[in-house]
Amino acid sequence: MGSTMLLLLLLSLAIPPYSFHQQPVLVKADMGLIQKTCKSTKYYDLCVSCLKSNATSANTDTRGLALIMVGIGMANATATSTYLSSLQVSASTTNDTNLKKVLKECADKYTYAGDALQDSAQDLATESYDYAYTNVQAAADYPNACHDAFKRYPGLAYPPEIARRETGLKRVCDVLLGILDVLADQ
Ligand SMILES: *[C@@H]1O[C@H](CO)[C@@H](O)[C@H](O)[C@H]1NC(C)=O
Ligand SMILES: *[C@@H]1O[C@H](CO)[C@@H](O)[C@H](O)[C@H]1NC(C)=O
Ligand SMILES: *[C@@H]1O[C@H](CO)[C@@H](O)[C@H](O)[C@H]1NC(C)=O
Repeated sequence: MGSTMLLLLLLSLAIPPYSFHQQPVLVKADMGLIQKTCKSTKYYDLCVSCLKSNATSANTDTRGLALIMVGIGMANATATSTYLSSLQVSASTTNDTNLKKVLKECADKYTYAGDALQDSAQDLATESYDYAYTNVQAAADYPNACHDAFKRYPGLAYPPEIARRETGLKRVCDVLLGILDVLADQ
């Protein structure tokens, strides 16, 4: 009797809980997961729009949603690092060595932010949510180092475009921290 129960259990585990192909009901259910998860984050609208932008969000679990958000944060950090490097190239045509130095430092910080997010993806894969949390916090902190670099030179104004990007990356990281809280509580 016991072994029959075990066999039934194993059989039920072998059958996927839902089919891979999307069905309207399933999509609705998963939109529910996105909404439920995003309600636990600081920026609900940003969270929902980011997750919906990746089609795989319709067929994944909470950890999968966190991974999608990590990918968005990485793309964001990398895009800003590239942007800052291009500003640095433009600054080379002027003789503003301070500006060049700061832009280089800022480009590096955004690269580190992307690296920290990449590390958090590995932590998620091994379900090390506390390490993932620490890495995402680090990623959110690197933009501050860029902002501080500008403050060290009173003659250099902090460009609004960099401020906008700083806020953008921090918000993505904040959303991610909210999703990690949900995962840690599961
Ligand atoms: C969607 O998210 C998955 C998992 O993080 C990622 O592998 C994939 O590249 C993303 N797709 C797009 C279009 O960004
Ligand atoms: C930068 O400095 C160099 C050397 O002092 C000078 O020859 C050059 O004309 C300067 N360039 C600009 C754009 O001011
Ligand atoms: C990064 O964030 C900024 C600010 O929210 C946004 O304008 C930009 O589109 C994002 N870039 C990427 C690649 O996600």
